[in-house]
Amino acid sequence: MKKLIGFSVAILIFLNVSAQKYDQLAKTPPMGWNSWNKFGCNVSEALIMGVADAISSNGMKEAGYQYVIIDDCWQVARDENGEIVVDNTRFPHGMKFLADYIHSKGLKFGIYSCAGTLTCEGRPAGRGHEFQDARTYARWGVDYLKYDWCNTGSQDAKSSYTTMRDGLFAAHRPIVFSICEWGSNKPWEWAGSVGHLWRTTGDITDSWNSMIGIFGLQKDLAKYAGPGHWNDPDMLEVGNGGMTTEEYKTHFSLWCMLAAPLLAGNDLQNMTAENRAILTNKEIIAIDQDTLGKQATCWRDNGNYQIWIKRLANNEKAVCLLNSSDEKKTVLVDFTALVQASSDWGGRNASIKLENYTVRDLWDHKDLALKETSMYIDLLPHAVKVYRFVKK
Ligand code: GAL
Repeated sequence: MKKLIGFSVAILIFLNVSAQKYDQLAKTPPMGWNSWNKFGCNVSEALIMGVADAISSNGMKEAGYQYVIIDDCWQVARDENGEIVVDNTRFPHGMKFLADYIHSKGLKFGIYSCAGTLTCEGRPAGRGHEFQDARTYARWGVDYLKYDWCNTGSQDAKSSYTTMRDGLFAAHRPIVFSICEWGSNKPWEWAGSVGHLWRTTGDITDSWNSMIGIFGLQKDLAKYAGPGHWNDPDMLEVGNGGMTTEEYKTHFSLWCMLAAPLLAGNDLQNMTAENRAILTNKEIIAIDQDTLGKQATCWRDNGNYQIWIKRLANNEKAVCLLNSSDEKKTVLVDFTALVQASSDWGGRNASIKLENYTVRDLWDHKDLALKETSMYIDLLPHAVKVYRFVKK
């Protein structure tokens, strides 16, 4: 009897342990690069190695970028054992070689598949092969899996993603699990124990309207984000050419305010100094990567002028003034009100004193010389100001 009880406990422990995600991962939002936004299906070993070289030499690695992720189109078939087959024209040395190369640069390797029968580009996907694929990825040295939602028919999202999560766990390699079902089944409500991040919307495109539209859809989702489980408003378009430099600064700032994953999506091997400066602004990135892991909330909404607040560790905070209109605006900003504003309940905490803080402009890289507690601030069209209230 004793033996039987011991055995049952062991099974229970085993079941419990096998039914979870790797929970020591993505304690801050993942940072890296993904091939899709710029290159679509035009991926290759040479491209991925070139990107790894670029990240490790252009300041991005120092700024925190880590994951080099191949999106759709690396896979062409399944062999007679059901093993996924890599396109060996585009990836002549296979995925283990590529993973080793990326790891040798001190970076991490990410890959893409899909919960349906075929990926969005019609390549073989994971349905029915979850545990097998997870073992393959682990053998190759994959550190991050983006899992899409095309060709899923009547599949249930939560159970489909849970199967892959369990496959990854059973493969015994800590792999960040990125859920990409476009927010269709409200993953923020169920995916916290399944994946480390989940897309909240359809795909971003490289335009102001797409970017600002997606940003607006994040407004009610702040409470679902935290260390190890992030809302993902999709990858960055910074540097892809469809927005102005000012708009890319806004895009990057807003994603950092949202504690969003920061996955660059541009051609890193041919990048302007301006775009590199945006992607490597360490003061803005520090807002994204803050260890408290809070997503910003909208504290004042005057339509095309909004104030967003993100609480930071050590009782600091970031404030973003957003002018999403096509006109220049001059706004009177009350810094006492901002330092006292609580983004959690929309009210004020009068015991917080402005004199105990320095207000730092995170794009000008300067502390504000505040003569009065209120100040007129100019905002260009489609632009932001991002301030950090730094404790003195
Ligand atoms: C979409 C996904 C994109 C990209 C693409 C690849 O469903 O949202 O980010 O991965 O599939 O086919």
